Amino acid sequence: MKLTLSIIKPDAVKRDLIGKINTMIEDKSIKIVGQKMIKLSLEDAQMFYSVHKDRAFYQDLCNYMISGPIVVQVLSGKDVIVKYRELMGATNPANAEDNTIRKSYGVSVEENSVHGSDSEENAKIEIDFFFSKREIYNF
Ligand code: CMP
Repeated sequence: MKLTLSIIKPDAVKRDLIGKINTMIEDKSIKIVGQKMIKLSLEDAQMFYSVHKDRAFYQDLCNYMISGPIVVQVLSGKDVIVKYRELMGATNPANAEDNTIRKSYGVSVEENSVHGSDSEENAKIEIDFFFSKREIYNF
C-alpha cells in the first residue's frame, strides 16, 4: 500500500465540508490512516509551499493557507497518489471534471478545497512534514 498527504484547506473547513470530502475519499476505497486539525504558522506555510516560492501567487497562497484551520491527513491505498489526484480534479475548479472534490466544492484556483501530493517522493516529504511515525496507523 502506498501513502499520500491530503490537506483539507481553510475554505473547505470553514464551510463544514470535512465530512463530505472524507465521504468522497472513503467511497473510493481510500483509507484515512492519519488525521489532525491544525493551524499553520506563516513560517510553516512558506516552508511547505517553498517549491512555489518564485511564483507570483506564493505570498497570497501562504496567507490563504494560514487564514483558518486545515485538516492534514495521510491516505493509504493501491495507487493512492494518482487515485487521490484524480478524485481532487484539476487545480482550477473551473476546469475540474464532474464528481471530483474541486468541481463539487472548490471556489477558485486558490480556494480549491484540497491538496494532494503529486509524486511518491513528495508524498514522503509532505507526510514527514506533518506526521511522526506513531501518528500513522499501518493497516
Ligand atoms: P495545491 O495543490 O495546494 O498546490 C499549490 C497551490 O497553489 C495550488 O493547489 C493552488 O491552490 C495554489 N494556487 C494559487 N494560485 C495559483 C495559480 N495561479 N496557479 C496554480 N496554482 C495556484
